[in-house]
Amino acid sequence: MIKLGVNVDHVATVRQARRTVEPDPVAAAVLAELGGADGITIHLREDRRHIHDRDLELLRKTVQTRLNLEMALNEEIVKIALRVLPDQATLVPEKREEVTTEGGLDVLAHRNNLKAVVKRLKDAGIKVSLFVDPVVEVMRVSKKVGADAVELHTGSYANARTEKEVEKELVKLKEAARVAGEEGLVVFAGHGLNYINILAIKTIPQVEEVNIGHSIVSRAVLVGIKRAVREMKNLLSDYV
Ligand code: PXP
Repeated sequence: MIKLGVNVDHVATVRQARRTVEPDPVAAAVLAELGGADGITIHLREDRRHIHDRDLELLRKTVQTRLNLEMALNEEIVKIALRVLPDQATLVPEKREEVTTEGGLDVLAHRNNLKAVVKRLKDAGIKVSLFVDPVVEVMRVSKKVGADAVELHTGSYANARTEKEVEKELVKLKEAARVAGEEGLVVFAGHGLNYINILAIKTIPQVEEVNIGHSIVSRAVLVGIKRAVREMKNLLSDYV
């Protein structure tokens, strides 16, 4: 069964709307775990637009499953990661003006810097995943820079509107996952996944875990976090 990492950034986004203390992503993470989450993901952005340093510190102490920190190749954040020691770091590109992470990491352009950061994180015992577009060559470079895993960017798949487009994007994901698996990389997937488009992702045999934020937090507003996570877990089960 594919594992589920729940991204609680958007709980912090609601908190940020009023610059107050609620809702607390730390409480949300506890409930997500009670609902069956296999891991908790947060993105500590340079501009701290949703998750704050305090959230990371507390989640490190409270998460019972696995804490996955999404982070840019930014020295300040790297130092924080090396001090707080999440179980996993997912390196992502970051632009201040974007609403959410728009594309995968440009592993070719950042190759040398990536190699150095991946090594520092791994030496500290942190598993390292790279958030990348589903492109075969990128899988090979990801392996070369020392990553343990890749998270395939499913944004284009999620945004595809016609059946033909969806199929085209799925083929890209399958091919990239196959090559990543051959390279010995662990394969994750995420971005834009929801209670409908998740089903086809289950047909990609190499995908071990998906990271889902927006759709789960959106549903949680209406039905509660535990139930929203449980419903996604049910869809990920081998019997659906
Ligand atoms: N994976 C990565 C690397 C991300 O940056 C995000 C968005 O923060 C997600 C997964 C979750 O995407 P969504 O909120 O669309 O489910």
